[in-house]
Amino acid sequence: MKSAISLNNNNRLKLGIFSANCSSGMAVTKADERWQNSWRNNLDLVRMCDTAGIEFMLPIARWIGYGGETDFHGGVLEPVTWAAGLMAASKQIQIFATVHTAFNHPIVTAKQLASIDQLSNGRLGLNVVAGWNKPEYDAFGVDLPTVHSERYARAQEWFDYVQKIWSADSAFDWDGEYFHGKGVYGNPKPVQSRVPILNAAASKEGREFAMRNADYLFTPVFDFDQAKATATEISQAAAINNREVGVFTFCTVVCRPTMQEAEEYLDYYANQNADWEAVDHLMKLQGMHAQSFTPEALGMFRDRFAAGHGGFPLVGTPEYIADQLEQLSAAGIAGTTLAFVDYSAEFPYFAEHVLPLLEKRGLRTM
Ligand SMILES: Cc1cc2nc3c(=O)[nH]c(=O)nc-3n(C[C@H](O)[C@H](O)[C@H](O)COP(=O)(O)O)c2cc1C
Repeated sequence: MKSAISLNNNNRLKLGIFSANCSSGMAVTKADERWQNSWRNNLDLVRMCDTAGIEFMLPIARWIGYGGETDFHGGVLEPVTWAAGLMAASKQIQIFATVHTAFNHPIVTAKQLASIDQLSNGRLGLNVVAGWNKPEYDAFGVDLPTVHSERYARAQEWFDYVQKIWSADSAFDWDGEYFHGKGVYGNPKPVQSRVPILNAAASKEGREFAMRNADYLFTPVFDFDQAKATATEISQAAAINNREVGVFTFCTVVCRPTMQEAEEYLDYYANQNADWEAVDHLMKLQGMHAQSFTPEALGMFRDRFAAGHGGFPLVGTPEYIADQLEQLSAAGIAGTTLAFVDYSAEFPYFAEHVLPLLEKRGLRTM
């Protein structure tokens, strides 16, 4: 099955913006200019990205912040509502909704997302997250299965149920292990015959889920070798299943005219002014409940968590950043999200100076 994703333009490296719906974005910093996730700022940002030809925006689904002085991710615009609002303010960019399979009923999600696809004339994407963050499960009063396979079994049934609602011509009964319903139907359907699916995960079970269901696996990259190994493994496994699954990752961007300026700014916001209490709490929860980062990676990357939630660093001049993106692409990565300390203030410089270099290198057309 070919991916029917409308991200399917000719750009070899797709670009998106990640986590603009969350307070502080991806930077666990006390710096005054950290991202304010106000609606006004999100509107300004989506318009800039739409004009610049960025393919997509992707929100984080988060219900409980990570504490620290800034309460990192304590303020979050709910992703489905956020996606609907941004559609009205944009023309061509794809907007993803991120949905927790453990906290959202399939009938409600199917209807919400079909409605957004209708009102945007087919620009919606769905990022499926099985969930991992124990304090959120506690808040919902839901048990977090300790066994990964059980988390993904529930996620699979949730996903199948949503797909069935979107495809069934008449009312049906659902009698699964986790969900039961009689006389279920969904009207309207999404405009797109297949809503593009991302799955954010890294564990074996997460990758297998992506292999069965997603167009793209969204997963951390630590270095070029590991990126290549991941992309190769995913494309080979997908081919065996007669599918195409690309790999997306997420990057932290500090783009400045000189390397020194970029490195000094990184040190300022992600070292001197890091919210270390929040960093350590986030990393502790990740280590306890998720397998997205290996224990070795968690040990090595405290600084990357402060800088951008563990994202791959793109810190330097436009030329240097274009080089790094070219190497990610050469390793087989199909796309990446970008995050800045202050997206609206920093994105224009990136768009003006890096995008043309990516075009020259044949990775994108403007
Ligand atoms: C790039 C990326 C983005 C993610 N986005 C979210 C999110 O928005 N909300 C959330 O609760 N979990 C998010 N997750 C967590 C995953 O959905 C998943 O629950 C977690 O990685 C644990 O699964 P795993 O152990 O199978 O990797 C994200 C994970 C990755 C790797």
